[in-house]
Amino acid sequence: MNDVFQAVKITDHVYWVGAIDWNIRDFHGYRTHRGSTYNAYLVVADHVALIDTVKVPFLEEMFARIASIVDPSKIRYIISHHAEMDHSGGLPAAMERIKPERLFASVMGGKALKAHFDLPGEVTAVKDGEILSLGNMNLAFHETRMLHWPDSMASFLDSDRILFSQDAFGMHLATAERFADEINPEIIEHEAATYFANILLPYSRLIETLLDKVGDWGHDIGRIAPDHGPVWRKNPSSILEQYGRWAAQRPQAKAIVLYDTMWKSTEKMARAVAEGVASRGVKVKVLSMAENHRSDAAFEILDSGAIIAGSPTLNNNIFPTMADVMTYLKGLKPLNRVGAAFGSYGWSGESISHIQTILSEMKVAIACEPVKCLYVPDRKVLKQCYDLGSCVADVVKKSI
Ligand code: FEO
Repeated sequence: MNDVFQAVKITDHVYWVGAIDWNIRDFHGYRTHRGSTYNAYLVVADHVALIDTVKVPFLEEMFARIASIVDPSKIRYIISHHAEMDHSGGLPAAMERIKPERLFASVMGGKALKAHFDLPGEVTAVKDGEILSLGNMNLAFHETRMLHWPDSMASFLDSDRILFSQDAFGMHLATAERFADEINPEIIEHEAATYFANILLPYSRLIETLLDKVGDWGHDIGRIAPDHGPVWRKNPSSILEQYGRWAAQRPQAKAIVLYDTMWKSTEKMARAVAEGVASRGVKVKVLSMAENHRSDAAFEILDSGAIIAGSPTLNNNIFPTMADVMTYLKGLKPLNRVGAAFGSYGWSGESISHIQTILSEMKVAIACEPVKCLYVPDRKVLKQCYDLGSCVADVVKKSI
């Protein structure tokens, strides 16, 4: 065991013993520009508990951090809040090495862990609201089903007023700092929003319910310790309130123009559409999907009232990058948006109808007639694109 990796004190009895992944850039399809962390927490109570583990390649880092505080064999309980492998991948090896008296997970967590691993030990299922005594302190479990997996749960350590929230309230951000208040607030805001948009947006209604429940739990939450990114130490209610705003899905007067292009025709159209949006005093962001990632589009959609998508027709279909981003956005289930389509074509021109079909499947209301351009947009077509942008902007302003 090396001495390089040290635990970081989070509260009187809780230490961060996770791992920093400076290099990860793709998290199941989400571009993690700033890396991530896999947070595991050691609760140094009469009965020592380890909360979550790390991704397999980071197991030694976790064990070294644990060993900087206690001999890992002293861990009596392991608690798995979430069975996804960025937190459970190290669990089988941790079970072998620690040989805990009990492994706890939610009922669904027990099933999920068994479906993932041949664990060297049983999983003790805990119910929503159940309290585990750690001797001199208590850990209260709360199911958070579908946030974002069926097994997800959180727990609250009464003595230290800390909520272990697993994926919720986290972000993908690799930093040496362990507390959000030590990091540039603009980065924190951006990465928390990107994480919400890419992971949690489809569960907005459940998040609103969860936020109500957090109040009912009756805990005086002093800190929130998620499974990714920094711990919320100062004013932890601010991230709860921010989640409430995002989950409400009340977009602003803003449109995103997503496009890709073959011979710059659709690009010219996109730029004209954006000018039309801006002419009405509505914010606009233009994202070429050749130059931007789908998860950047997800971030921009979080506060956008309109999605305006442009694609050339390629082999009777939409451009592959546009199919990619539209499929991704459809899965994120944004609510209360309007949209429109545009694009160039050479002979058949199916891209418009494909985009409109996807927008309709997303329950995005088609706000204005599409603009379809044969080969290269002339002045007249560019004016039509400008008018399309103005039209969508006017509808957005009325819809918010
Ligand atoms: Fe961080 Fe859903 O795993």
